[in-house]
Order: sequence, then structure tokens, then C-alpha cells
Amino acid sequence: KRKLIIAVDGHSSCGKSTVAKDLAKKINYTYIDSGAMYRVVTLFAMRHNLINGEKLDENKLAHLINDIHISFSYNDELKRHETFMNGELVEDEIRSLEVSNNVSLIATIKFVREKMVALQRKLSEAGAVIMDGRDIGTVVFPNADLKIFMTADVEVRAIRRYKELKEKGDDISLDAIRENVKKRDFIDENRDESPLKKADDAIVLNNSHMTKEEQLDWIVARMAEVE
Ligand code: C5P
Repeated sequence: KRKLIIAVDGHSSCGKSTVAKDLAKKINYTYIDSGAMYRVVTLFAMRHNLINGEKLDENKLAHLINDIHISFSYNDELKRHETFMNGELVEDEIRSLEVSNNVSLIATIKFVREKMVALQRKLSEAGAVIMDGRDIGTVVFPNADLKIFMTADVEVRAIRRYKELKEKGDDISLDAIRENVKKRDFIDENRDESPLKKADDAIVLNNSHMTKEEQLDWIVARMAEVE
């Protein structure tokens, strides 16, 4: 069997990362969370006060971007993938609604994207990779072996994210989450740099009414067709 590059793109909060992580575990592939990279840059920009409302101090970020070192590791004890910013564990902080509300702004910036894409390609050099994001099949790996475009109804997505954040103890309204999901989709699909878009050769997976197992089986079947 070949070591494939699998690209999973799609809308916000439709379960891309959950499915990609489960699949990577099941078939012993490397999972790479490209969204976490944009989230780290966002957290960094927030901590340096570079974001004011909808405005970003691009010049300052351009000067500071090379000071941001992003790394990942798997925590065996907690059984989770963890993200680090300059060695600091930021996995929970990058998932907060504050970061979620600013990340799509950061992801519009060309020099940020170039830097992230370079890192994504570097981390994938060995192959046997499943990466999720917005532009993986269109920009990062236009020759990916398998491209999946995931989506689900907005309401289904908002409710899933709501439950997830509630379980973590975040006190947040369903309305605020639905707005964030819609806003991110809008910005992601309408930006000039690498907009979210189904690659011509991607296969659509609408998981509104599918269990996780059904989604995994579906992807494994698609893999068998290209392996
Ligand atoms: O996947 P996740 O929701 O964590 O990504 C956070 C944000 O990062 C997205 O809403 C999008 O704006 C941006 N992103 C991107 N390109 C990627 C991955 C994420 O623009 N490949």
C-alpha cells in the first residue's frame, strides 16, 4: 500500500479534525491540524496587542512572525494532540471563542499563509499524512492522493460545537457560536488568498446525519479506491 497524502477541507466545526484524528489513529498515519497553526499566530497577535477590533497591525506581525515557533506532540496520558507556541502548551487557549473570533482575520494575510503552508509541507515530507484545513486540497497539496470536502448543516455544526464547549465548562450561548461559525465560513470563502473552496477533484462528505463510524468507513472505502 502507498503512503498517501489525504487532504480534508471544509466548513468550520463540521468535525474535520475529529474524523481526521480518528482515521490517523486507525491507519497509523500522521495527523496534522493546519487550523491550529493559524490559531497560534492569532493567539500570538492577541498577546502582542496587534488586533484592535477588526483591525490588525500587519507591519508589526510581519516583523514578529519569525519569532513564532509552532510545534505539536501527542500526549499519551491525556490521549490528545497538543499544540505549542514557542514551547508553551496552548492547546486549550487556541480553542477559545476569543481566538476563534479573530483567527479568520489572521488567515486572510498572505505572508501568514505562506509561512504556514511551508510548515505544513515540511511536516508532511515523510508521507502517510492526513491534514485538515481550508486550502489543503487546493493550495498546500494540489496533488494529494485523496481530497475530501467535508460539510454539514450550519445548525448541526453549531449544536455540536456548543456541546463540546459546554462540556469543557465554557459558558457560551448557542447564538454566539452559530454567529462565529457563519462568520468564519463567510470570511474563509470570500478572502482573496486561498479561499475555502472545494477542489475540482475533491469528494464531498456531508456528515449532517452520519455517525463518526460511518464517516470513517466512508473515508477508508475512498482510500481503498486510490491505494
Ligand atoms: O480548522 P480550524 O477551525 O481550527 O481553523 C481555524 C481557522 O483557521 C479557520 O476558520 C480559517 O480561517 C483558518 N484556516 C485556514 N486555512 C487552513 C486552516 C485553517 O485559513 N488550512
